[in-house]
Amino acid sequence: MVGIENVTMAFGNFVAVENVNLQVGDGEFLAIVGPTGCGKSTILNAIAGLLKPASGTVAIDGATVSGVQNEIGYLFQQDALLPWKTAFENVELGLMFRRVNAAERREKAMAWLEKVGLKGFEGRYPHQLSGGQRKRVQMAQVLIMEPKVILMDEPFSALDIHTRHLMQNELLRLWQEDRRAVVMITHDLEEAIALGDRVVVLAAGPKSRIIDSFPVDLERPRNVAEIKLDSRFLTLYRDIWASLRGEVEKSYARR
Ligand SMILES: Nc1ncnc2c1ncn2[C@@H]1O[C@H](COP(=O)(O)OP(=O)(O)OP(=O)(O)O)[C@@H](O)[C@H]1O
Ligand SMILES: [Mg+2]
Repeated sequence: MVGIENVTMAFGNFVAVENVNLQVGDGEFLAIVGPTGCGKSTILNAIAGLLKPASGTVAIDGATVSGVQNEIGYLFQQDALLPWKTAFENVELGLMFRRVNAAERREKAMAWLEKVGLKGFEGRYPHQLSGGQRKRVQMAQVLIMEPKVILMDEPFSALDIHTRHLMQNELLRLWQEDRRAVVMITHDLEEAIALGDRVVVLAAGPKSRIIDSFPVDLERPRNVAEIKLDSRFLTLYRDIWASLRGEVEKSYARR
């Protein structure tokens, strides 16, 4: 579904990532981990068509990406809701841009608000919602567009641990219903393993590259709190951390 071939991303003379090759299958949940500043968001932005590679190509479903993509849903770390619009209005926004009529927008937006557990909250403004609820609105806002690929940049890192577990389970439930390709960035190795089909490790930057790729062969559906107690989870954690740790240390040493 996503094909990244020999991609190098640069800002002026600064080469953030070099020669990255990465394929994400249809319905695959890929998690990317790596030290801070190594180029994770940059890679996501290349997939979204927000940044152009210095060399190499990015393709979605076989079509080379150039410019902002319609088939992509992007879940940002920070709140991306419009504060002057209600939960309902925020969720229907994308369909408005697609010129979907009001009745259909209403039907779909209400259905999605219900799916993310916000029935009855449609008239609230973002400031009248909790952090977890705002994140749910954002999820509905992205999923209502039925994107082929969902990109997530540390979507839950600002939430407290309990809300985070809840949201991770919610996300898995929604994803399980209708599997899309997902590329998720996270600092949280536990989250990467609990959610992903595969965890890819990026090297410390500059000129970051992929140093390892670990398949996560834990059955689904998963409960993120329980799966962490599985001995296979612990083994994977140890293996991936062994790979990631050195890069995190390098990244600190370079500062
Ligand atoms: N617009 C820009 N102009 C110049 N340099 C940039 C720009 N955007 C990112 N960089 C640099 O590119 C590198 C990779 O940045 P990126 O945001 O992709 O890192 P990251 O892995 O997402 O980090 P974090 O985990 O902290 O979010 C960093 O060194 C950053 O300073
Ligand atoms: Mg980032």
